[in-house]
Amino acid sequence: MTVKKIAVLTSGGDSQGMNAAVRAVVRSGLFYGLEVFAVQRGYAGLINDDIREMDLRSVGDIIQRGGTILQTARCKEFMTLEGQQKGAENLRKRGIDGLVVIGGDGSYQGANKLSQLGIKTMGLPGTIDNDIPYTDLTIGFDTAVSIVVDAVNKLRDTMSSHERSSVVEVMGRHSGDIALYAGLASGAETILVPEVPFDLDEVASRMASNFEQGKRHSIILVAEGVGKGEDIANAITERNGIEPRVTVLGHIQRGGAPTHNDRVLAGRLGDFAVRKLIEGESGKACGIIKGELVLTDIGTVVNSKKEFNMELYELAKRLSQ
Ligand code: ADP
Ligand code: F6P
Repeated sequence: MTVKKIAVLTSGGDSQGMNAAVRAVVRSGLFYGLEVFAVQRGYAGLINDDIREMDLRSVGDIIQRGGTILQTARCKEFMTLEGQQKGAENLRKRGIDGLVVIGGDGSYQGANKLSQLGIKTMGLPGTIDNDIPYTDLTIGFDTAVSIVVDAVNKLRDTMSSHERSSVVEVMGRHSGDIALYAGLASGAETILVPEVPFDLDEVASRMASNFEQGKRHSIILVAEGVGKGEDIANAITERNGIEPRVTVLGHIQRGGAPTHNDRVLAGRLGDFAVRKLIEGESGKACGIIKGELVLTDIGTVVNSKKEFNMELYELAKRLSQ
């Protein structure tokens, strides 16, 4: 067997379904006869040697929970070669030869560095942002979008009653996917994302004429990568005199029970990562493309950018007239 002892960690921003992914890695690892360890607090725990052995019961009753039982961290020390070497050494001294890293693009960069130091790594895409290339979906994205859609549904009730406009700021550090999918699913009039240039004069005049033509509400979804919702609302008021109410959904989008889609995705990807490590693969990122599980060199993934889905963006525009 190529690997005998593996470890799993969660890193960067938590996302719903990380627990389901940890459970899948642990249970599949044990099923295939491996010893499985967990690292607490991401790369910080790797450096501090905060590592414990897992058994079948260690991951009981977590499939439905948001957050991550392994906790997570943003660890500056791991950005240095010294920190990475310390982490790799802590794995080696326990005889741990494989590591599954569940996290976003930054966490993948760390996994790539560990792979260059000889640790057999596998990346699992765990972030609500859906900004990892070579996978259609990341674990947590589906749940985050559902939360935004639910919030917009609620906002519509009060907006329609008052014939008002709402600016809703959603997460997505460099990515507009949450705004795009939630906007399409909730019928937002305008979706502002960092990937597509926009004209606020046009947004403001379309809003005014929509109200004139009998629309009873107007929803603008703003990805945080564009800027603050408050600034967008002020810019609109300056142009058309309408005063949109601003809602910043913030970390609400990262909590709560994962959807069944995220749990199934996490289960499939976690098991896939373990099987691929056993087959001798390393330095890879696991993803799902058109429903199929795929492996890509993690170096390729960290040096690429996910393509924005312009077709869906144009569709949202056509449907929101
Ligand atoms: P996410 O994984 O959600 O994108 P971050 O970007 O904060 O979150 O990254 C998580 C952690 O990954 C960082 O705190 C750091 O420890 C590690 N990391 C990020 N970039 C690098 C890098 N270039 N080299 C090594 N480690 C990195
Ligand atoms: O990467 C996930 C994410 O939720 C981004 O959408 C957001 O910009 C960032 O993390 C927020 O980070 P923090 O939890 O450190 O405030």
